Amino acid sequence: MHSYNLIAPAKINLYLEIIADRPDGYHELAMILQSIGLADQIDVRSISTDTIRVHCNHPQVPTDKSNLAYRAAELMASQFPEAWAKYGGVEISINKQIPVAAGLAGGSTNAAAVLVGIDLLWKLGLTQSELAELGATLGSDVPFCVSGGTAIATGRGEQLSPLPSLDNIYIVLAKYRSLEVSTAWAYKTYRQQFGDSYIKDTNDLAARASAVHSGAIVKAIVAQDPGKIAQKLHNDLERIILPAYPKVLELRELFANQEGVLGTMMSGSGPTVFALFESEQQAEKVKLHLRKAISDEDLELFVTRTVTHGIEVVSSV
Ligand code: C5P
Repeated sequence: MHSYNLIAPAKINLYLEIIADRPDGYHELAMILQSIGLADQIDVRSISTDTIRVHCNHPQVPTDKSNLAYRAAELMASQFPEAWAKYGGVEISINKQIPVAAGLAGGSTNAAAVLVGIDLLWKLGLTQSELAELGATLGSDVPFCVSGGTAIATGRGEQLSPLPSLDNIYIVLAKYRSLEVSTAWAYKTYRQQFGDSYIKDTNDLAARASAVHSGAIVKAIVAQDPGKIAQKLHNDLERIILPAYPKVLELRELFANQEGVLGTMMSGSGPTVFALFESEQQAEKVKLHLRKAISDEDLELFVTRTVTHGIEVVSSV
């Protein structure tokens, strides 16, 4: 096999709580992550030259080392030099459907797909947890993107506990094309404004991180109750983003007032806002309402749904 075509789903955060500072400069988090049907298609193939090449249909996506997919290939080459020497270089083509810098893990899921694709190309036989461990060195969300589905994520976001899969909750995503939020800026500003409330004691920290396992939203997920899940959505970073970006706040308020919306929240560090629905029909109706209410071509709207998988292989040749 010389090429693999993979599906790389985006994620939303059903829950994001910032608990404490970490010695490495990151934050201790308690999150619930959910894969969604909106996905990029990634083609990973062996090439005869000793190089890594990235192509992308989206003009804003870099194709050099600043692209996490590139760095994923570089990581595999440095970790497995014999395979790199045996199989040659790697060409990665990204068909981008996931909005960029949106809080949907678009870059992380591309990197996860490259790890999975190269593992297959080079017949390395890595386990999912070995791939996740490699992924964690690239970015906090990469391990989740490998396995996907529904999971609690603690630590930097890389420590995963799978939850029962949520299938067929429908979602509308709203994102202004030209609005991008830097995740590093969002966390830094949160630290400046709310750092005083961070947990300092390591015992309290462990208790707080494990409390999410028995929290109300996890109970609602176990009970497969979309209405209750939607009532318990939470994202600490809204405290930073909503006041700084009035357009995001407007979307959030518009969603909250629409019929059929079970709940609404910003995903990750934003600026994407999502709303949850029982049916696809309700989701499509609200998408239409929003399109009429905000006649701005910069606003992108997607209807999608929860999915139960991370990176998937579609075909190989
Ligand atoms: O891990 P990743 O590169 O995706 O994170 C992007 C930025 O978000 C980091 O540079 C850091 O500023 C912030 N972050 C954090 N704590 C985390 C995850 C991310 O402060 N647990």
